[in-house]
Amino acid sequence: MGIEDANLAGLVHGGVVMKMCDEAAAIAAIRHCGKRVVTAGVDRMTFVDPVNVGELLTCSATVNAAWRTSMEVGVRVEAENPRTRERRHTSTAYMTMVALDDEAKPTAVPALIAETETEMRRQREAELRRANRLAEREQILEHRDA
Ligand SMILES: CC(C)(COP(=O)(O)OP(=O)(O)OC[C@H]1O[C@@H](n2cnc3c(N)ncnc32)[C@H](O)[C@@H]1OP(=O)(O)O)[C@@H](O)C(=O)NCCC(=O)NCCS
Repeated sequence: MGIEDANLAGLVHGGVVMKMCDEAAAIAAIRHCGKRVVTAGVDRMTFVDPVNVGELLTCSATVNAAWRTSMEVGVRVEAENPRTRERRHTSTAYMTMVALDDEAKPTAVPALIAETETEMRRQREAELRRANRLAEREQILEHRDA
C-alpha cells in the first residue's frame, strides 16, 4: 500500500480496503457464474487491525452461497510486512453480488455445491446472514407502516 492510500492518520484508508474487497468479490462471483455481476450490498465489513503504508495487502475471496440470481462472497484481508513476512488478518467482508444478463437484468446463477466441512459452514453462515438481512428489512417496513 502506498501513501496515496493513506488517510490523515497515516494509515490505509478503510475505503481503499473496501474497494479492493469489492473487486476481489466481483472476480470470485464472475468465476462462479461466468456472467457479469454487480454489487447489490455489503452485508458486513469489519476492520480488526489497521493497515500501514508499506504493507502488502492480500484479499482472498470465496463464493459462500448461491441463490437464484445472487451470491454471497466472503473476503478475507491479510496484511504482510514484506521485510519480516509477518502476516495478520485485518478485515473480513461479506458482499452480495448479483449476476446480470445482456439486458442488465438479474439472471440465474449455478448452484453452489458445498463439499468440505468449511464450505458447508460458510454456506450455513451465509444463509443466516441472508435470513437476518431479509428479516430486518421486513421489520423496518412494518415499523414504517405502523
Ligand atoms: C442489484 C440489482 C441488480 C437488483 O435488482 P432488482 O430489480 O432488485 O432485482 P430482484 O428484485 O430480481 O433481485 C435480484 C437479486 O438481488 C438480490 N438483492 C436485491 N437487492 C439486494 C440488496 N440490497 N442486498 C442484497 N441482495 C439484494 C435479491 O435478493 C435477489 O437475489 P436472488 O435472486 O438470489 O433471490 C439492482 O438493485 C441494481 O442494479 N443495483 C445497482 C448495482 C450497482 O450499481 N452496484 C455498484 C456498482 S457494481
